[in-house]
Formats: sequence, structure tokens, C-alpha cells
Amino acid sequence: LSRENLAILITDPVDEYMIKALRSKGIKVNYRPDIEREELLKTIEDYNVLVVRSRTKVDKEIIERGKSLRVIARAGIGVDNIDVDEAERRNIKVVYAPGASTESAAELTIGLMIAGARNMFTSMSLAKSGIYKKTEGVELHGKTIGIIGFGRIGYKVGLIAKAMGMNVIAYDVVDVSAKAAEIGGKAVTLDELVSASDVISIHVTVGKDAKPILTAREFEKMKNGVIIVNTSRAVAVDGKALLKYIKEGKVRSYATDVFWHEPPKEEWEVELLRHERVTVTAHIGAQTKEAQYRVAVMTTENLLKTLQDLGVKL
Ligand code: MLT
Repeated sequence: LSRENLAILITDPVDEYMIKALRSKGIKVNYRPDIEREELLKTIEDYNVLVVRSRTKVDKEIIERGKSLRVIARAGIGVDNIDVDEAERRNIKVVYAPGASTESAAELTIGLMIAGARNMFTSMSLAKSGIYKKTEGVELHGKTIGIIGFGRIGYKVGLIAKAMGMNVIAYDVVDVSAKAAEIGGKAVTLDELVSASDVISIHVTVGKDAKPILTAREFEKMKNGVIIVNTSRAVAVDGKALLKYIKEGKVRSYATDVFWHEPPKEEWEVELLRHERVTVTAHIGAQTKEAQYRVAVMTTENLLKTLQDLGVKL
């Protein structure tokens, strides 16, 4: 693999820093942020590196067709849209940008939590249509937030929630008791978390065959009027069960940046999307100028380092 012959295809929107930085090294970069799957399948064999975000599904078929692929770069955190096992099997390296969008994702989480607690978007659409009516909300001060997945983003959400006067409890598959104690919080089991929380916020990483963490079993244990916030991945929640508990009113509000299909397409998903107590943003957690710049810098650095490890002289 030589720099002169190297070809990189970018199939999702990334900060221009990345394109400029790679081209300045004399590398051929094709930037096609809107490419459709059919065309990608036909052209992938011409490229050694594929750069994606969450829109492009890098499944087994794409990887098989990518006969010259050496690296797949995810300009972001979640690699759930990449068949990492298949890539590994074919000796294709996968790089990503952990930590680059922590602040932006945490800030959106807090925004969604408040929007959910105050029915902000309902109030906004009523106001915009000329109806000045008071929608009642709940106060967050003194309430308990249960954070599922206490990594970088979960920790930051806990820190801000604490400053808002909330009690913080956290659950993770690894021991996070010291980290939780650092911000005056407490590590608990998942069962303890679901039954004690007024707000549940999800910050997990998921694999491609992930199973939901919040299922009917967990919904049954939740407090009446619970607010659920999700800025990680929709598959962490059993969507059909959620719809039932939203309709019954047990879940007061589901405030989410992620959907099972983006855009939603199944009937139950569309019903959830349209429900007045479901607050939705369109996967914008990492979509700030600052986060996208950091993501581009980190992904580029990791990609260039990996190419050098593969013997490319840069
Ligand atoms: C991520 O995992 O980083 C998110 O999906 C954000 C994104 O790429 O838009």
C-alpha cells in the first residue's frame, strides 16, 4: 500500500478539516456524503479506506465487496453500524474517535431532559400556532437521575445533573462506584436504578446484535411518571414495550435523539415519533461545530497512524 495509490472514500458528512488534512498529504479523497447503498456496493472495491458516520451501514456485504479495504474509520463514537467481527476476520482495521463529542452529547442530553420534563416542544408548537396555553411540567431539582452507562458522556451528564440539584445514581457493567462517588453519586444495580429513578438517561455503547436493556420487565419496576432520555442508541430500549408504557402514562416522557430506524419506518416507531409525550431530535448529539471538528481531528490522527502502521509512508 503506497501513498500514491491510496484511495479514501468518505460516505457521511464530516468536518472539512479531515478532507483538507488528508488531501494535504497527497492522498486521493472522494467525498460523497450522500452516496446511496447501491452505488457504494458497486464502487467500494476501488477504495482502501472507508470513512463513515452512522448513516452508512458497513455490513458484511459491503466489507466483502471492499476487496481492497484496509481501514474503516468511524468519524464518531459508536461502531454499531460496522460489522467489526467481519472486518477483523478480513484483517481490516477499524478506527474511531472516542471522547471527541462528549461535551456536545452531554449538553443535548440535559436539553432533552428539560424538554421532556417541561413539555417544551409541545408548548413551542402550541405557541407557534397562536395558542398560549400553560402545559404543566415537573421540576428536576431534588429528583433522582439514574444513568445507565457511566462512561465519559454518562459521567458528564451526572456532573451537570448534580449541579442542578439532582441525586445521581449510576449503573454500568463495570464497577463505577469510585467514579460515581467523585461527583457525589452512587453506583447501583440496574434493578435498583430503574425502581428509584425519576429520570433515566441512557449512555451505553452497543454492538450490532445488541439486546434491549429496558424491556417490559424494567418498565414494570419504574416509578409512575418516569422520564426517559436516550442520546445513545435506540436498541437499548424495547420500543414496542416503551410505546405501551407511554400510552398508559407510566412513562411521562421519552426524550430521544436516536431511533430504531433513522428516519423511523415501522408502524410502532412512527406512532412513538408522533406521540405528544415523545420529544425527538434527529441524531444531532455530536452535531456541533466544536464536536465535529474534534471528531475530524481525532479520526484523521487515528487513521494516519494506522496507515503508517500498515507501512504507508506519509
Ligand atoms: C456517534 O456515535 O458518534 C454518534 O452516532 C454521532 C454521529 O456520528 O453523528
